[in-house]
Amino acid sequence: MTKITGDTDIIVSELLKGNIAALPTETVYGLGANALNEDAVLKIFETKERPAFNPLIVHVYEVDELKKYSSDIPEKVYDLAEIFCPGPLTFVLKKKNIIPDIVTAGNDSVGLRIPSHNLFREVLRSSGLPLAAPSANRSGKISPTTAGEVLSELDGRIDFILDGGKCAVGIESTVISFLNNEIKILRHGIITKEEIEKITGKISDSEDSVPLSPGMLKIHYAPSTPLYKCADPAKAAERTGLKTGILDPGKYSDLREAAFHLFSDLRKLDESGFEMLLYSEAENSGIGVAINDRLKRAGSGEIVFTGNSFKIIYG
Ligand code: TXA
Ligand code: MG
Repeated sequence: MTKITGDTDIIVSELLKGNIAALPTETVYGLGANALNEDAVLKIFETKERPAFNPLIVHVYEVDELKKYSSDIPEKVYDLAEIFCPGPLTFVLKKKNIIPDIVTAGNDSVGLRIPSHNLFREVLRSSGLPLAAPSANRSGKISPTTAGEVLSELDGRIDFILDGGKCAVGIESTVISFLNNEIKILRHGIITKEEIEKITGKISDSEDSVPLSPGMLKIHYAPSTPLYKCADPAKAAERTGLKTGILDPGKYSDLREAAFHLFSDLRKLDESGFEMLLYSEAENSGIGVAINDRLKRAGSGEIVFTGNSFKIIYG
């Protein structure tokens, strides 16, 4: 049976024993394990049914620990950390051997992040462990942003969920790579490219290049109900004759709020018995880039109307 608790001591003791537990971060809930314990990390992969080629982010308490787990750290990492850490930013850096291969899926790089949620920080501080933690959903599914959502993903598969309320950010961290003397965004998040470039100067998106972050797989965050992009969801819903749910990030007062609600709204729609879900894109700048990226990967394509007929463009 999976238990929800507010007691960090229970979680610390589980993690020190080599067990896994779900924990709140400021972005989404994570499924944590001692990153230095291969058996514990294996439990994460098994529980999520996560493919072994998808590397995990390692969470540490403070900036000073980055050098324990990675080498050749460029000065710009520290410049960014000074402004954004603790917070929703993950640095992909050259890994040190102390990090087991299972964590990094055999890559010689490691994703490191200093989260800001007070309960996660308490667990890091009190355990003294670096914690490997992917989002606490089954692989390919929607990331959970409340303890209840973790339960609906992993009920019976884990013993404990640490309840830290609803995640303040709502979408996963921005992932930025510093490998090969190049700075690249591998995953967009609430810390935007523009904000990062103010510190680092011009950087590129990984779309222009080969090395994919596996979280960047085309289909991800997938609801069970088919989801399509649509220019005018309300009109389309009338015409298809299907019971249709609509996700409109534009209904919120700003993009930060839209990100906060995104995964919960998608999950609720998915659980509401609709035959089809439609979404309209957010404005494609700043945080909207991260929102649209999630929606695109969650969906299966676009529905387009011409006159009285419509077609679905898959992709
Ligand atoms: O906000 C977050 O980042 C959340 C919370 C729990 O911290 N975690 C999270 O983890 O989203 P996950 O495993 O769902 O996504 C991690 C992403 C994946 O796309 C993974 O491929 C990428 O980070 N990643 C991790 N280590 C990497 C590495 N060494 N090189 C390239 N990509 C890496
Ligand atoms: Mg994930």
